[in-house]
Amino acid sequence: MSKQSEPANLMETLVALCKRRGFVFPSSEIYGGINGFFDYGPLGAELKKNIRDCWWNDMVRRRDDIVGLESSIIMHPKVWEASGHVEGFTDPLVDCKVSKQRYRADQLFFAPVVVDGKTVGYVSALEGDAIEAELQAAAETLKRKRGIQGALATVQPRDMTQAKSDEIALIPSPATGEPGSLTPPRSFNMMFQTNVGAMTDASSVAYLRPETAQGMFADFKNVVDTGRVRLPFGIAQIGKSFRNEITPRNFIFRSREFEQMEMEYFIHEDADWAKCHREWIDWCKDWLLSIGLPESHLSEYNHPKEKLAFYSKGTTDIMFKYPFGVQELWGVAARGNYDLSQHAKCSGKPMEYFDEATKRKFVPHVIEPAVGVDRIFLAVLCAGYAEEEVTDEKGNTEKRVVLRLSPRVAPVKVAVLPLLKNKPELVARAEEIHRRLKRKYAVFYDEGGAIGRRYRRQDEIGTPWCVTIDFETIEKDGTFTLRERDSMAQRRIREEELFALLEEKVF
Ligand code: GAP
Repeated sequence: MSKQSEPANLMETLVALCKRRGFVFPSSEIYGGINGFFDYGPLGAELKKNIRDCWWNDMVRRRDDIVGLESSIIMHPKVWEASGHVEGFTDPLVDCKVSKQRYRADQLFFAPVVVDGKTVGYVSALEGDAIEAELQAAAETLKRKRGIQGALATVQPRDMTQAKSDEIALIPSPATGEPGSLTPPRSFNMMFQTNVGAMTDASSVAYLRPETAQGMFADFKNVVDTGRVRLPFGIAQIGKSFRNEITPRNFIFRSREFEQMEMEYFIHEDADWAKCHREWIDWCKDWLLSIGLPESHLSEYNHPKEKLAFYSKGTTDIMFKYPFGVQELWGVAARGNYDLSQHAKCSGKPMEYFDEATKRKFVPHVIEPAVGVDRIFLAVLCAGYAEEEVTDEKGNTEKRVVLRLSPRVAPVKVAVLPLLKNKPELVARAEEIHRRLKRKYAVFYDEGGAIGRRYRRQDEIGTPWCVTIDFETIEKDGTFTLRERDSMAQRRIREEELFALLEEKVF
């Protein structure tokens, strides 16, 4: 019997679990860590690889219209001029001159405190779910502390990009609580710069890529000339991207080094882009369901027309309900032919496609589904984590922590457990099945401790099945006990049935 509950602070609980069980560590922790960078431990590396492999298999290998690519991380700097990143890949930044803290201007909110129609001061707060309530409470505190009488108006929050120049000196810094130290917003380019070669002058400047997408555009002609592809077709890539985020936060949700899985789907200039866009949104949602994310946590956000770049026809984000709010997981953008046209213009190399049917040349348009591996990783953990109160047949209750991960992504697929470690026949049979399973699957062999405790250890890391080699195995029909993680149900299973089960569920 089990009763399920969610911990009060799911994020804190997950961060602790990730550290304790070797999913994610802060990078360079022995030196105090480095903000916005993370390491994936033994289980995290497996889970991440599984996410990547599922995407690659479904997106590239199991389709006839998509090919893969692995382009270099550092590309010619002109790539980033053509793409608009040198000019425009910026976030608005506000400095606090006293505390030396930096804020993204669009994430720092303020409001005038208005009493009886007169502005008596300003309050500020960082973006969050309850920004209005926080600012209202701060306004009430300010009024009370200053002993001001009269009716306090409801606060009207704005972000710092909307602050007028005469307001900036009056807005308190969230770090000090005092006005006068915030700077006006300025543009901050998020690309990491480096130098290539021995010289460190302007001619050697290069960038760590802030997205994988440009590799696909820059290699478009190479793929067309060598890949036997015909429109519509896609080029997909998985790889690291780097952004010097002003405020990396929410664990691995927004970091400075992360991994993207992007696909550029090239279509005819006259194709029905809206239909194709919709098909890709649906494909992405179905894929997320296939790796175990619940539909109830997914939603769509259509970027308003007035906020789209001039070349964009439409962008829809697939949103996920994280513990810290509903946030972007996967962006699906209809980008027209902007990127290819820009590269044609800046490189002087044509980026046209010759259509055999119409004998016409044109620059194809593109639909781009772009997602972060780390964001999927976090979503999978958030949705999978559960704490249960379980009661055994003797009526004893205890807390069970379980990660309900899909077998497709679970870092360990099966744990092999000999019932007793001091019985050589059990151990020998367990080692044999372990050897066979690990030729194909990530499996874990554990002979230490009571069997119940071993089951709990596997529950906590999301292992879908445990097989126990017991006396029935060696004395009777050779079957094992198969214990299922979610229901905790147990049944006997033959070796070939176990392989068939894995074949069906792990793909
Ligand atoms: N080529 C388009 C592009 O890069 P984006 O919306 O900036 O679009 C795509 O990024 C996806 O990459 C996002 O939906 C998100 O999943 C992931 N992503 C972006 N910035 C990230 C960051 N700082 N940390 C982790 N993931 C990030």
